[in-house]
Amino acid sequence: MDAGTSGGRGSRWLLAAVILLGGCVWDAPQSSLVPRSDFARAILHVYGIITWAASGIATVVVVALIWIFLRFRGREGAALPRQVRGHTLLEISWTIAPALVLLVIAIPTIQVIFRTESPAARALEIVVRARQWWWEFTYPSLGLVTANELHVPAERAVTLRLEGPDVIHSFWVPQLGGKRDVVPGRINRLTFVPETPGEYLGQCAEFCGTSHANMRVRVFVDAPDAFDRWVAGQRAPAAEASGAAATGKAVYARSACVGCHTIQGVSTGVVGPDLTHVGSRTTIAAGLLPNGRAQLIAWIRNPPALKPGAKMPALGLSEADAAAIAEYLVSLK
Ligand code: CUA
Repeated sequence: MDAGTSGGRGSRWLLAAVILLGGCVWDAPQSSLVPRSDFARAILHVYGIITWAASGIATVVVVALIWIFLRFRGREGAALPRQVRGHTLLEISWTIAPALVLLVIAIPTIQVIFRTESPAARALEIVVRARQWWWEFTYPSLGLVTANELHVPAERAVTLRLEGPDVIHSFWVPQLGGKRDVVPGRINRLTFVPETPGEYLGQCAEFCGTSHANMRVRVFVDAPDAFDRWVAGQRAPAAEASGAAATGKAVYARSACVGCHTIQGVSTGVVGPDLTHVGSRTTIAAGLLPNGRAQLIAWIRNPPALKPGAKMPALGLSEADAAAIAEYLVSLK
């Protein structure tokens, strides 16, 4: 074997190892092994029970197999072991044992499902409307609405009221808890207490069409005072536009944008995300792109080119008009 062949084989092994172990990062942003809410910890606890139960069963099966292989291995001239047909005690045992294992797993699982499906007392209720392919978050008690980036206060129960309206989606932020479907015509609830301030990534977890994989969600768990500041900012009127932003506002107001988007005091569309404070978000297009001028211009000029199937069409705006609108949107902090 020459050095080139052995090098090629080595790199193939390396590639195989990378592919196999690529998902094995304990604290990746969407790892459910790093719980940051009571719900996520409860799920990890159930995982633990299942892991120990499965390990115990595997040990018993492997030890029994090894013993049987050794005890009954073929030997020269050995007599045929006693032949058994049917064994009532064994059959009852291996029916009851798995049922008991399932019962042990089912009790904490069902407890967690029921607890997290009920609204908690004094919880902050947020209405979640999942749409192709973005998230709308409405805070009825605070009178504000935002999109794709959910802010919640730490150490306070939050109840998400998951509503339609178009097709089935699933809200999933692994470090804050398990998946829960968003089903048109039905209200599901998801209650949890976020514990550690930080930014948590999630993803729509139910195939919902072309850009399902581009339907990301970010949850910012804020310290209570930071959350209050965020709320105050979101409830404030849209920023006054001046200079280049004022030009952009004029272009926005005379373009088709107004048919789909709300900017308080400017437009009242409800098809797309509310943009009153879009400049305060870190990303656009449901987490697909960072929120910056260049990305906004590219997005405004041709959304479906960046996000397949995007409902927002290319409006045929000139580069200058798109740049002006981007300038305006960036100013809407
Ligand atoms: Cu929404 Cu998948």
